[in-house]
Amino acid sequence: MGFGQTFFKAHPSINPYHYEMAKEKSFDHAAVASAHALASMIGAAIMQEGGNAFDAAIAVQFSLAVVFPEAGNIGGGGFMLARKVNGELIGLDFREEAPAKASKDMYLDEKGNPYADKSTRGALASGIPGSVAGMFSAHAYAKLPMAQLIEPAIELAEFGFVVSESEAKGLNSNRNSFIKFSSSASAFTKKENWKAGDTLIQTELAATLKRIQANGAAGFYEGPTASMIVKEMAHSGGIINLNDLKNYAPKYRTPIEFEYKGHHIISFAPPSSGGILLAQMMKMIAPFDLAKMGNNTAASVSLMVEAQRRAYADRAEHMGDPDFWKVPTKTLISDTYVKQRMSDYVAGVKGTSKLINAGQIHESEQTTHFSVVDKDGNMVAITTTLNDSYGNKTIVAGAGFILNNEMDDFSIKPGVPNMYGAIGGEANAIQAGKRMLSSMTPTLVTVNNQPFLTIGSPGGTTIPNQVYEGLVDIIDLKMSLKQSIDGPRFHHQWMPDNIMLESDFPEATEQALKAMGYTIMKRGRFGRMDGVQITSDGKRMAAGDKRGDDSVAGY
Ligand code: GLY
Repeated sequence: MGFGQTFFKAHPSINPYHYEMAKEKSFDHAAVASAHALASMIGAAIMQEGGNAFDAAIAVQFSLAVVFPEAGNIGGGGFMLARKVNGELIGLDFREEAPAKASKDMYLDEKGNPYADKSTRGALASGIPGSVAGMFSAHAYAKLPMAQLIEPAIELAEFGFVVSESEAKGLNSNRNSFIKFSSSASAFTKKENWKAGDTLIQTELAATLKRIQANGAAGFYEGPTASMIVKEMAHSGGIINLNDLKNYAPKYRTPIEFEYKGHHIISFAPPSSGGILLAQMMKMIAPFDLAKMGNNTAASVSLMVEAQRRAYADRAEHMGDPDFWKVPTKTLISDTYVKQRMSDYVAGVKGTSKLINAGQIHESEQTTHFSVVDKDGNMVAITTTLNDSYGNKTIVAGAGFILNNEMDDFSIKPGVPNMYGAIGGEANAIQAGKRMLSSMTPTLVTVNNQPFLTIGSPGGTTIPNQVYEGLVDIIDLKMSLKQSIDGPRFHHQWMPDNIMLESDFPEATEQALKAMGYTIMKRGRFGRMDGVQITSDGKRMAAGDKRGDDSVAGY
């Protein structure tokens, strides 16, 4: 079958109808690790065409919006954390924002009780999307024309690509929701079930991407695309209007930075909770010899969980959009505060989360992370999301993309758990123009001021814990990046007061934790980490998570 006009003709080795995954590979110059083989290959090819890590990241973001519709997006938002080779740090916040008509009690009925799924399904669940504006802001650091970076995504949407087994499964299991929550049929639903090897063609999405290619961010936030979004709102009670779209702008945030055992760690600031949680937890465990305690032993898991409990309690109380709530960031990550928070820690003794208000954690938390390092040592980490898998399940008629359900990341009522079982209060209450608290944790590490690692993961509230556990694996336990990424995970988030263990977690540790009094919940899998490490020989070691179709590419 023939393919493509510009990009794929110039890169015949990238075949959207026949491609394979690479889970771990060392590259001489530059590398990408993302949720999809085609997106990673496109990112690598863009760097070979003369682009830097920013060019590659933009091309990967747009490509994921086509080949990974469950979380890749133009209808969602995210965070880009980057370190230029000259040491300059960039924290770009393109998180969704509450529309002007949003209000604190918008998801509560007349008795003050939350509606069943208004914050998670249909147009009312959607925050103003930030991804397209984010990519245009990121382009200030890139080298190639934006049109060139969007082109691969357009060709993939227009001519299609073959779906994997897990993508087919995802589309099939969401079929009824797509129909229920969208005003018209879309490329994602067909008469028969999807199966691995089927070609997904997204003509309407290709047209939307072409409008962005031709008109810049206005191709999304104004004109026909904006009108289609607003029209789709009417179908299921959404409130995003043309002004909300036109006024959306990304913001720059000063990254969170801290030291851990000879490593300088950089992560994202509020409105993500990720960087603060990571700093708190790693500082809490820094006095301990994790290597001596051993990997995934009851002693090490208990210590790390007690740090998680304390940090996540602070998340619920203190964290929100810093433009609306005074987040005490400096205090929360100060050595004195962190030491005081651990002053009641007793080794081997289970702590308690005072408030009992358990919410069940939703199984399918979707977001996606990708990591890029270029030949010069520029590092880019982007975590981007529609929130749930396939967002609010609403496909914008005529525009072909899925909207987010990020409004559920707000605290819709104090003490009422959201989709992730996370509770919050005033700090994260809904307000017009405010950005909902996130857990996304795109993270960079340097050693002696030299690039060392870029890493991150999807997984809702489990994200900061995954990055925390991954960094301990690499720094304390001297694991390879791939071993660390694939290792079994545990998660505690203060409320509910239980430890979630991945299904392949060591049985003996599970029993020992139970004997210590912990309540254990088993869970299939957490997240999908993707990272790139700069090894001592200067090469780029890229690793993609075993848990999904994640794949690496480079040159
Ligand atoms: N929607 C997931 C997060 O931002 O944490």
